[in-house]
Amino acid sequence: MTRFQALQAERDEQGGFRQQVVSRELDSLPAGDVLVRVRYSSLNYKDALSATGNPGVTRNFPHTPGIDAAGEVEACATGDFAAGDAVIVTGYDLGMNTSGGFGQYIRVPAGWLVPLPSGLSLRDSMLLGTAGLTAGLCVDKLLKAEVSPDSGPVLVTGATGGVGTLAVALLAQLGFEVQAVTGKPEQAELLRQLGASEVLGRETLLEGTGKPLLKERWAGAVDTVGGEPLFNLVKSLRRGGSVACCGLTAGVNFQASVLPFILRGVNLLGVDSVEIPLAEKADIWRKLAGPWKIVALERLGHEIGLEDLPDEITRILAGQQVGRALVRLD
Ligand SMILES: NC(=O)c1ccc[n+]([C@@H]2O[C@H](COP(=O)([O-])OP(=O)(O)OC[C@H]3O[C@@H](n4cnc5c(N)ncnc54)[C@H](OP(=O)(O)O)[C@@H]3O)[C@@H](O)[C@H]2O)c1
Repeated sequence: MTRFQALQAERDEQGGFRQQVVSRELDSLPAGDVLVRVRYSSLNYKDALSATGNPGVTRNFPHTPGIDAAGEVEACATGDFAAGDAVIVTGYDLGMNTSGGFGQYIRVPAGWLVPLPSGLSLRDSMLLGTAGLTAGLCVDKLLKAEVSPDSGPVLVTGATGGVGTLAVALLAQLGFEVQAVTGKPEQAELLRQLGASEVLGRETLLEGTGKPLLKERWAGAVDTVGGEPLFNLVKSLRRGGSVACCGLTAGVNFQASVLPFILRGVNLLGVDSVEIPLAEKADIWRKLAGPWKIVALERLGHEIGLEDLPDEITRILAGQQVGRALVRLD
């Protein structure tokens, strides 16, 4: 019987959760069309929520988190893939209530698999992972809302995080003037190297909460934090500007006023990387492998093993993540 290594999150004796590396049987994986040998995964904020028992993400424990996986097909029951095909799996139920990419094998529906596009290695694909896909989706939404480099500066919040660093790098590569909001002033140089023209402190978006409108500053934004900063960001968009909203690290709720919408015609664009149709994911992956290939990708990742994940999970939950943690499964 084939056994494999996986991170397992489980309840501890104190009513909390712990994560440890265990050996699992292949038969313990859920039923599914395709068995994938995972080579790389990556750590996202949502994985940390799953690994620490957040019931909005994962209900049943013990559980192997990991919303991202890249590897080779080992067996496919539907005939859609051949053994050895290189594939990417992100989102849907992977790592939530389906055993995820923090294990050397996953078994999933064929409809969750994107063939690895030429131009990306398996390693590159997980340096990007859900964070890269999400940054790509945010940029795609802004472009479709006609935010262009000529429209004016764009802002990225949570700029040193996974989605944030990749959004800064991608927007700068596409010719935008990028401003970055961060709570880590010591990382300002990294953000400038990625292409940010200005690095702002988090207080930038905490001032003026009581005012109905703020000075027009940004033509567009990628917001990874939500909460009060998003309220002030919407009030600071230029006429006709748009913010792609994808995250919640500063809070799930935010106040709203109709005034920026009816007086300045601004747009709040929701971004979901998880449940969108596979063809939409594949389209963004092709862009990330070609015209949007992020030059600084290697610099943004640090490679870790399964045994390093508990410390990395603590760090990302504390808002201390910088760039991407690439998980090597071999
Ligand atoms: N919609 C989707 O499909 C989708 C997909 C991926 C991720 N997300 C969400 O997007 C967010 C970012 O994900 P990620 O994987 O990039 O996480 P991450 O690497 O932890 O980045 C989040 C960043 O947010 C900032 N931050 C943390 N706590 C904050 C606070 N209290 N107030 C203001 N800023 C704070 C920090 O950056 P600075 O120190 O630079 O400020 C942190 O590095 C998460 O909420 C995640 O759930 C959504």
